[in-house]
Amino acid sequence: MAKYSRLHGSVGLISLANPPVNALSSVVRHAISEKVAKAFRDPEVTCVVICGENGVFCGGADIREFASTMRGPPLVPMIDAIEEGEKPVVAAIEGVAFGGGLELALGCHYRIAHYKARVGLPEVTLGLLPAAGGTQRLPRLTGVAPALQLITTGRHVAAPEALKLGIVDQVTEQNTVEVAVQFAKSVVGQALHNRRLSLRQLSCPPDGLFEETMAQIKQRARGAVAPIACVQAVKAAATLPFKAGMDKERDLMATLFNSGQAKALQYSFFAQRSVAKWNLPNGAHSGISKARAVHRAAVIGLGTMGRGIVVSLVRAGISVIAMETNEKQLHTGKKMVIAILEKDAQKHNAAPRADLVHFTERLSDLSNVDLVIEAVYEDMVLKKDIFKQLSMICKPDAFLCTNTSALNVDELAAVTGRPEMVVGMHFFAPAHVMKLLEVVYGQHSSPEAVATAMQLGKRLGKVSVAVGNCPGFVGNRMMKLYVEQAHFLLEEGATPEQVDEALEEFGFAMGIFKVSDLSGLDVGWRVRKEAGLTGAGVDWKEPPRRRQGRRYSPLADLLCEKGHLGQKTSRGWYLYEKPGGRDPKPDQGLHSFLVEYRSKYGLKARRIDKDEVLERCLFSLINEGFCILDDGIASGPEDVDVIYVHGYGWPRHRGGPMFYADMVGLSKVLERLEFYHQAHPDVPYLKPSPLLRKLVRNGSPPIREWREFLKRPHSHL
Ligand code: NAI
Repeated sequence: MAKYSRLHGSVGLISLANPPVNALSSVVRHAISEKVAKAFRDPEVTCVVICGENGVFCGGADIREFASTMRGPPLVPMIDAIEEGEKPVVAAIEGVAFGGGLELALGCHYRIAHYKARVGLPEVTLGLLPAAGGTQRLPRLTGVAPALQLITTGRHVAAPEALKLGIVDQVTEQNTVEVAVQFAKSVVGQALHNRRLSLRQLSCPPDGLFEETMAQIKQRARGAVAPIACVQAVKAAATLPFKAGMDKERDLMATLFNSGQAKALQYSFFAQRSVAKWNLPNGAHSGISKARAVHRAAVIGLGTMGRGIVVSLVRAGISVIAMETNEKQLHTGKKMVIAILEKDAQKHNAAPRADLVHFTERLSDLSNVDLVIEAVYEDMVLKKDIFKQLSMICKPDAFLCTNTSALNVDELAAVTGRPEMVVGMHFFAPAHVMKLLEVVYGQHSSPEAVATAMQLGKRLGKVSVAVGNCPGFVGNRMMKLYVEQAHFLLEEGATPEQVDEALEEFGFAMGIFKVSDLSGLDVGWRVRKEAGLTGAGVDWKEPPRRRQGRRYSPLADLLCEKGHLGQKTSRGWYLYEKPGGRDPKPDQGLHSFLVEYRSKYGLKARRIDKDEVLERCLFSLINEGFCILDDGIASGPEDVDVIYVHGYGWPRHRGGPMFYADMVGLSKVLERLEFYHQAHPDVPYLKPSPLLRKLVRNGSPPIREWREFLKRPHSHL
């Protein structure tokens, strides 16, 4: 709703009141329209101020209303009526003015913002565009180029930048509403014509701006349609009269609104919120579990992961002991951590926070920390040895966490005298950049330990998802099959380029073979050796392309044996101009190697189309997602999807693997998996999961109903 009062006899004050962010629900829109009309009618009122209660102007549309038919007055005529009014209307912006909130403010004749407020049009991140005149009014206020940048990215800006861009007229450190009221009184009687943005003429944008932006966006958007529609809408603002521009904005919005992408992005938005609510098999959940504050943390191992984790902790203001046994690694790690922190300091014009880190070679220095994150080599014997020592050295109430990417958290917990204090904190590389954190609870992890790891993840700016304990947890367990399918496709006739092209067209930032070259082929090699799939532990009585009773492709192992480890050695699945080179080129040598390999094993190359690449890679990953849900390792499809969007480059506008399965149709996924399983009976994970079958038997319910078909989560080893 919105409240109305009269101040100083002549100022009509309209306060949006819909906590927490004064979203523009139908009731609020109705109330604003009514109060504005009342103020305009009242002969005593000479000017109007619109503000929001609780220090927030307006967070925009009420997204929950998107799913239902629109009720209540639409925004466009409401904003038009404000702009056309004969009394000056001033927006007093505190907190945020996002989306429809900023569009409402753009309809006002003046905007005053608190210096801490932020403004922006984030609709594009939900697969939409600002459709209440935002794409038409903002360019008339800031000029085309800045508006194009803000609208196509959804970036929001702080009040001082908004002032420079011309979005607000004044920034204040005082009480914003009081300043706005005084301001409104001071402009009574002044002509409003120039203040009506719809009447402003747009100066010509620089030549080629739209074409250039469109080309950049097509490259960056990876198939997302909303940023493209945003460019078209702003172009309409620059080339058409206001009214025709508004029509274009409305038409583009109608197309976007009904697109699968908007649904996927809105699903993603809610999924990200939902993962903060976690459940443990023993009934504990986020609602009743209290986190403990972490003031001092320690990181063990300053390799690829440890360095990033130290940076993340320091950025959150936590003091860190960084421990590493290898002198050279300690030195390089220290240099890299300090360099990143100094760069941060330069960027934010602040003092570097390196004083928060203490580097050491001694484990005994960790006696007084609240939480430890171990990030040494992926070696169970080594990790167990460290956890045993930590159990003796650290204070009794210190949490012991491991960054293992696949090992058994319960096995590590068992060597400590405090298994309830042990959880996995699985960061993703580079840990100071990647948003995802899998918090792995073991059989004995206490609710307090899970709550503390989840809370710490939040403090580090991560999207944390609680998952059960099984080899590879959620993300890597699914990923393994996706990678394996890609290798099988090479055996059957594809090239790395063909597979990557299909995946990139689908929307992944990089195809799987490029990713593998970037991280280094030796990473997977080490994991396969540890699993007894290659190297000393292999049962060589099995045929060469079978391991542990199922189909296996030794292609990646053979490359590693040749020393072709990817970018770092200049050869992997692609060719690079030098070690450390970043630009992948097709490698004729690799192609010849594939031909020889196929002929050696009597494999006949066939033409593999893009659909098969996608179905084989993605449906096998999705099928494992269903198994994970069935096992209770993830508590709902949203958890799996958030993990894939934030940790594995799954295109956001496709929602995540489980959402994608829902979009494609569960019966189709089932039918194709049955087909591929029949064609490849030696690949057991192509057999459709019982949960997928159950859902199809039950009429393929929409994703929001899948939880009803799940068992309760439990640890699974
Ligand atoms: P890394 O090989 O880059 O670094 C490991 C570091 O641990 C080395 O600097 C080594 O000297 C140090 N170290 C070995 N023994 C030690 C000991 N007793 N005390 C202190 N330091 C010791 O390994 P990376 O890639 O950072 O991986 C670390 C852990 O993180 C592994 O468990 C890995 O599976 C996991 N992980 C790795 C990811 C990646 O992309 N590299 C992603 C997510 C998890």
